[in-house]
Amino acid sequence: MESDTVFKWVLFFLIANHLGCQLISCSVTYDSKSIVINGERRILISGSIHYPRSTPEMWEDLVMKAKDGGLDVIDTYVFWNVHEPSPGNFNFEGKYDLVRFLKTVQKAGMYVHLRIGPYVCAEWNFGGFPVWLKYVPGISFRTDNEPFKRAMKGFTEKIVTLMKSEKMFESQGGPIILSQVENEYGSVEKAYGGAGHNYMTWASNMAVELDTGVPWVMCKQDDAPDPIINTCNGFYCDEFSPNKPYKPTIWTEAWSGWFTEFGGPVYERPVQDLAFGVARFIQKGGSFFNYYMYHGGTNFGRSSGGPFITTSYDYDAPIDEYGLIRQPKYGHLKELHKVIKQCEPILLSAEPVITSLGSLQQAHVFSPKSGPCAAFLANYDPNNAAKVMFNNKQYTLPSWSISILPDCDNVVFNTADVGVQLTQVEMSPSDSNMFSWEIFTEDLTVSDESSTFTATGLLEQINVTRDTTDYLWYTTSVDIGSSESFLSGGDLPKLLVQSMGHALHVYINGEYSGSSFGTRKHRKLTYKEKINLHAGSNKIALLSVAMGLPNIGGHYETWETGVLGPVALYGLDQGKRDLSWVNWTYQVGLKGEAMNVFSSNADTYIKWTEGSLITQKQQPLTWYKTNFNEPDGDEPLALDMNSMGKGEAWINGQSIGRYWLTYANGDCQGCHYAGTYHPLTCQLGCGQPTQRWYHVPRSWLKPTDNLLVLFEELGGDPTKVSLVKRSMVQ
Ligand SMILES: *[C@@H]1O[C@H](CO)[C@@H](O)[C@H](O)[C@H]1NC(C)=O
Ligand SMILES: *[C@@H]1O[C@H](CO)[C@@H](O)[C@H](O)[C@H]1NC(C)=O
Repeated sequence: MESDTVFKWVLFFLIANHLGCQLISCSVTYDSKSIVINGERRILISGSIHYPRSTPEMWEDLVMKAKDGGLDVIDTYVFWNVHEPSPGNFNFEGKYDLVRFLKTVQKAGMYVHLRIGPYVCAEWNFGGFPVWLKYVPGISFRTDNEPFKRAMKGFTEKIVTLMKSEKMFESQGGPIILSQVENEYGSVEKAYGGAGHNYMTWASNMAVELDTGVPWVMCKQDDAPDPIINTCNGFYCDEFSPNKPYKPTIWTEAWSGWFTEFGGPVYERPVQDLAFGVARFIQKGGSFFNYYMYHGGTNFGRSSGGPFITTSYDYDAPIDEYGLIRQPKYGHLKELHKVIKQCEPILLSAEPVITSLGSLQQAHVFSPKSGPCAAFLANYDPNNAAKVMFNNKQYTLPSWSISILPDCDNVVFNTADVGVQLTQVEMSPSDSNMFSWEIFTEDLTVSDESSTFTATGLLEQINVTRDTTDYLWYTTSVDIGSSESFLSGGDLPKLLVQSMGHALHVYINGEYSGSSFGTRKHRKLTYKEKINLHAGSNKIALLSVAMGLPNIGGHYETWETGVLGPVALYGLDQGKRDLSWVNWTYQVGLKGEAMNVFSSNADTYIKWTEGSLITQKQQPLTWYKTNFNEPDGDEPLALDMNSMGKGEAWINGQSIGRYWLTYANGDCQGCHYAGTYHPLTCQLGCGQPTQRWYHVPRSWLKPTDNLLVLFEELGGDPTKVSLVKRSMVQ
């Protein structure tokens, strides 16, 4: 090359680098068939991995496993409450480092669907909204309300600006090819009437004006205005069509399983049915689907929504909570992805022609003008296999399945024919011992005046705690005359407490008297039990416990928590004594929380006592701590909490989540893949603890001297807590 030409090329590359995609025309658009990336139609296979539900140290492995499983796209929500813990103060550190997560995906050569929301539902605390948002004057969530719209626009802009500054959009050469605004708003909009429609229209315009250079989607939003693409979420989406013929058919949530709630069973979705659902979607002309979840992960700390969503968010996903591959789910889907990719050019250049092969059997054939055709042979009969004739050849289709023929001749894949071997989870003991437990009891008698306040009547819990803690004490005193008949052998009086949820522990004169729990469906609870009172002044102390704020439901931000009454004593000589409007003293949180007893640099004046006392009496409201060394090997780790009651656990100051030994109430009748799926059709673990094991990320550990702290509400035996290794065996 002549030096002049070399110079021109150097200049070209300099400019190309500088302008990036503008010069070589990076763009994402769409047409009726699919998302179009840099001028090319694509069938895109996506999976949800939520960055705060694992650790940065796990991200690369999860993403590489997703890529190896045949995925093109990683989908994640953006979690407002973790990024803006107080107005204007942002946090993008550690497991909240969104940019690092997206760069991990980019490095793997994959795309991103960024679901900004900022409402995300997601079985996440308060649906992803920061709790302070509820206390912005005049606010009303997700409707035509100025304070809400201002806040939503502020956060959405913040995220889009951050993404642009990091060149994260595909239009800038980055990995993001799609973004979502709002989330499953359609049915809410109907309930909110005109205000709902105005808000949805505003949200669409607000998003489009941010000018990201990539399309926006709205899921479950039939009236999403152009250019926004409305998309489907569900167990199946083959009945779905977008609201305009020039939009592609997108399935933003193909539910790979279901979430778990304390007291419920574990739900499984057989991979044969999931693969069948995906094949049904593709044979109808769908071109983008996303597994919700591909890796579910863990609700660390107090991040689970609810109430009563478990700490595990495993979701029966292809990659399990701990980051291990779940077979046969992962492998069978990988085979499906391979054959879909094999058919990709054909699927993108022809419309399916449907012919009947029997009363419950059909063929979907994609025949481009030139080149080979591809066929999907479907048997919707849940009970019987079918023999069908196609192109003068006989095929046997297992019940409830689709065979895929990339050349219209040979069956390369059948959704019900699983060739991958099943793996079983094994939880095996580790070499890490925990001895010398120490205890610290929440002292109910000594009350620090500075951390309490008194008010007349009963206060709403979240308004008082602002969700800085799960715990709020309501304390009052009751005078009992010495002539009360129960004092001389009559029936004991009963205490009635009505609470809006979620759990309640009752203490009378410093002694534990009993507990009551709501459920996810019935948050409200009633405590009505006989209590021991004596003549003179008695102290009634109610510990109200929140178990994750609601994440779904019309105006869930107005739902109340805590003891709102009535509170009353029954069976005194005067009859009923109402305590709802007496003076109550409030203490936000536990003393141990205020002293940071779970932290490695906690106050040194905390009086821990040696553990020999522990086995004597399993006391409620007790903190336990011990030290342990990191187990050998690289298997993921879990705490076996089978001997404990209910509370929260911390490792080296970080919360691994709420624990609760509740037993799964369900109908575990066995599970068959065929027939329209619903979570109730495949329940596991009835009669066993809903969640026994709690994920301990390896990266939170040091080689030696790790600090484990438990807070136990009810009573448990920490000496039986152990660290176990998780592995998959064939
Ligand atoms: C919250 O607390 C404040 C101050 O104590 C009170 O004025 C307000 O009415 C409370 N709001 C609710 C919804 O309980
Ligand atoms: C209740 O508390 C208020 C202050 O909050 C106080 O003025 C009042 O005397 C108290 N009432 C009783 C019966 O103790």
